[in-house]
Amino acid sequence: MDKERKLIIAGNWKMNKTVAEALDLVQGLKRELGAIKEVDLVICPPFTALSEVSKASLDSNIRLGAQNMSEHGGGAYTGEVSALMLKEFSVKYVILGHSERRQYQKESDALVARKAAAAHAMELKPIICVGETLQEREGGLMEKVLETQIRGSLAGLSKEQAVESIVAYEPVWAIDTGKTASTEQAQSAHAFIRSILSGMFDEPAAKRIRIQYGGSVKAANARELMSQADVDGALVGGASLEERSFADIVKNSI
Ligand code: PGA
Repeated sequence: MDKERKLIIAGNWKMNKTVAEALDLVQGLKRELGAIKEVDLVICPPFTALSEVSKASLDSNIRLGAQNMSEHGGGAYTGEVSALMLKEFSVKYVILGHSERRQYQKESDALVARKAAAAHAMELKPIICVGETLQEREGGLMEKVLETQIRGSLAGLSKEQAVESIVAYEPVWAIDTGKTASTEQAQSAHAFIRSILSGMFDEPAAKRIRIQYGGSVKAANARELMSQADVDGALVGGASLEERSFADIVKNSI
């Protein structure tokens, strides 16, 4: 597939996989996807598996991401993990502001923006998640919600940092529900997000920022979604937990 921006497909393993299971999966992914160069491949295991998965993927085309990090550099923050700690395991990406964290941990746009700045300060690339709920979409609030989230969650980033960030559009109603946005719904939300980014930074910068789609991506819908002009990859939850389904998503996207 000839795309303006290089596709980036990331697996968000969420709170799944023991170390042994994670190692099994990464070995399988290396077998299945070892030759893929057309797509940036990222896996985001839980913190507890990062050390071993890092060693197992070091010699491969698979890059490592974390699912969250602290806004702080270190100190008395019980239970938190800093960017520096992630860097020890060669982590390159970090998912920030996932809707599950916004919902269960009450993460705000302002907090996500501080975390994004902290990630960039340590040269980690943030995958900044935004997306509307079904109620918001049906109430005609989608654009307003997305604009608020984008402006708030990327606030304060320089143009250079913005270009090194990834945005993930994940409509909340499509996450873990089996309901995927239609290709038209995905493309129009992505184009809208890019127009906001263009207003915040400038058009050339906005054209370089990769926008992933997330929400029930599977092998059967990957090709159609990835073929949309403003869809630059996928953030995959459930279907990233098994080597066959993740590998098929990647293969169907190129
Ligand atoms: P899903 O999750 O693919 O299981 O819908 C996507 C995500 O939450 O990143």
